[in-house]
Amino acid sequence: MSTPCNVVVLISGSGSNLQALIDSLAGADTPAVIRAVISNRADAYGLERARQAGIETRFLDHKSYADRESFDAALIQAIDGFNADLVLLAGFMRILSADFVRHYQGRLLNIHPSLLPKYKGLHTHQRALEAGDAEHGCSVHFVTEELDGGPLVVQAAIPVESDDTPETLAQRVHVQEHVIYPLAMRWFAEGRVRLGEQGATLDGELLPASGHSYRT
Ligand code: GAR
Repeated sequence: MSTPCNVVVLISGSGSNLQALIDSLAGADTPAVIRAVISNRADAYGLERARQAGIETRFLDHKSYADRESFDAALIQAIDGFNADLVLLAGFMRILSADFVRHYQGRLLNIHPSLLPKYKGLHTHQRALEAGDAEHGCSVHFVTEELDGGPLVVQAAIPVESDDTPETLAQRVHVQEHVIYPLAMRWFAEGRVRLGEQGATLDGELLPASGHSYRT
């Protein structure tokens, strides 16, 4: 088999998406290897998940850097130390500098808990409920300088039920996140997904603006 795709995952919290990524690589035929997990929070449970899976971890405290640019420069240095082919933001709750985003142009993916372009930013489940949406979901997209705004790779939608709360919605969206993020990682690692001039492509074909629509 050809050399596997080196992946570095950035987290800030629980790391349930990280766990799904790790679990998806458990079989023999794996096109990707998670080389390292980096957190900006020392107490992120995802660091423990990584250790248990035998993956190298790094903690980089953003509070000990003078500004966003110097923290991001240190982050780049750490990531590049692992020869990353792909960087995955998995609940990494930091706004990234333009330099960082440009450095990883075309090899930086994020997962976001809404059907982008709806509900960029925070409190997505509550906002979907308040808007009375019939559908909600999650998206994987290439990261560009626009916050939560880059070309979409894949989305999964779920119906909103009349008795849903932000918590119940979040739970069901999480289940979908844990399916589509490993899928997007695999597609990238296999060379099937790329960022082209006009947007994300799958097997050389331009994806629709909403990305591939994943259905369970
Ligand atoms: C996930 O729901 C992810 O979509 C969200 O943070 C959560 C992390 O959960 N990311 C964002 O909101 C980014 N804008 P996890 O730590 O259990 O994977």
